[in-house]
Amino acid sequence: MTQLSFFFEPDKQQPKILTQGVFSHDGIGEDKERITLEENYKHLLEETDEFNRQLVSFQANKTETLHSWIKYREGFSASLVDLLIKKYKFEPDDIIVDPFAGSCTTLLVAKMRGINAVGIELLPHCHLAWEAKSRAFDYSVKELQKLEKIIHNALPPNTTKTFKHLTITKTAFPPQIEKDLMQYSEWFQNLEISTNTKILCQLILTSILEEISYTRKDGQYLRWDGRAKKIQVYNQNRLAKGKKAIKGINKGDLPDVKNAFLTKLEKIITDIIELQKEQLSPSHQQLIKGNTLFELATMKKDHFAGVITSPPYANRYDYTRTYALELAFLDIGDEIFNLRQEQLSCTVENKSKLNDLEEFYKKIGQLDRFNSISEVIQNNKVLSEINTALVKRMELNEINNKGVLPMINQYFSELTFVFAELQRICKSGAYIAFVNDNVRYAGEIIPVDLLSTNLAEQVGFRPVKVFVLPQRKGNSSQQMSKYGRVALRKSITIWQKA
Ligand SMILES: C[S@@+](CC[C@H](N)C(=O)[O-])C[C@H]1O[C@@H](n2cnc3c(N)ncnc32)[C@H](O)[C@@H]1O
Repeated sequence: MTQLSFFFEPDKQQPKILTQGVFSHDGIGEDKERITLEENYKHLLEETDEFNRQLVSFQANKTETLHSWIKYREGFSASLVDLLIKKYKFEPDDIIVDPFAGSCTTLLVAKMRGINAVGIELLPHCHLAWEAKSRAFDYSVKELQKLEKIIHNALPPNTTKTFKHLTITKTAFPPQIEKDLMQYSEWFQNLEISTNTKILCQLILTSILEEISYTRKDGQYLRWDGRAKKIQVYNQNRLAKGKKAIKGINKGDLPDVKNAFLTKLEKIITDIIELQKEQLSPSHQQLIKGNTLFELATMKKDHFAGVITSPPYANRYDYTRTYALELAFLDIGDEIFNLRQEQLSCTVENKSKLNDLEEFYKKIGQLDRFNSISEVIQNNKVLSEINTALVKRMELNEINNKGVLPMINQYFSELTFVFAELQRICKSGAYIAFVNDNVRYAGEIIPVDLLSTNLAEQVGFRPVKVFVLPQRKGNSSQQMSKYGRVALRKSITIWQKA
């Protein structure tokens, strides 16, 4: 998944080194616990061409039938899910779970294979993606082709409806494009077409927002075209203060709403025709809207046959910012602040959820469970070593944002709750697959794959494998100039419930 965009390509001449060896640049932080962790688990590390970067990123989905309908840069590929389903022998009667469902790759592949599945996800555009894609077998192709003709030949009526911008999305569209967008949106809502087709229209409009805007998604941020009013006003202020103007990107000619919509619709109709030739075995999938930390805690025990998932990486990327345009279009308003907080802590703004979780566990009569999971977190030596090392880096002014410290601690604390609940709700023998990236902050390497495996083992899983991708992850230029180049693992960790 492209949650971070720098990569080291494999060097065929070099022997494959899977371990990190040293974890703290210049020995500033203590790293003996991380070294011991690696020693203990190095037999699990396996680099294999079976899994590669393309497979683990959304890249392979870009051209795939169905999965390409809406781009989700943080998604993994359908082929990866397929491979894991085959490798761990998930069968039609099984129910698999994806606690961080995103664009629902796991659920959709399960549907294609006739396997039952449950996903949990917070973001509304991911739910829209599920609503539209899971109906692929139910659309009336005739109706869609008729709609295509109507859009070709007619223009939408005027509307008074306006785009409900968030502060961070203001001026994202040229005024005419924004007006057209709202006209098409209103028109589709009022046209006499089936609910299925209306949902699909809403998905298509959502999926073209980036393309028709002055923005481009770029990891942690939205990058802006220099023509956007926001950038121009910003530059006027800078110039007034004697500062240099920033350039912004140049996206060239932007497509209009009609053309972007029709191009997408045409591709989707072709996909639907292909898909509807297939005979699917009946199965059931469900996407739950909610916070996985709370949802998992109330699920039935010993129920699921396995997990295929990828949580947000510990890389400070804020999904509610990257997808601000999509969320604004779906009228998210101030709810965006709650959504941001509810996300697994992976940004410097996330506040601790532990008090709320404790209250919740109390309410459901499971305070003991809360306490025993908390104990695992508090007693984990590797996590406490990382916390101490980061505090030291902070005291040396090497971390520019003090939110990084709580973020890392919360990230692993919350993940431990996820691991513990998955352990409880999975059946004996269930396989768990987690895709994640290792990270480095201020010269301190955080072995996310092995620390997760360690926490998972402490809540009762048996570590099985850590598949390491041939491509390593690179570092930000900032990290590289200060702490040198260190290749970090991108991994798929596999555990099993005994
Ligand atoms: C790496 S993405 C998953 C992508 C997915 N595998 C796919 O192929 O599209 C992680 C997802 O977890 C969701 N997420 C983060 N924190 C969550 C939480 N506390 N509860 C539910 N979903 C959450 C994010 O919104 C994001 O969509």
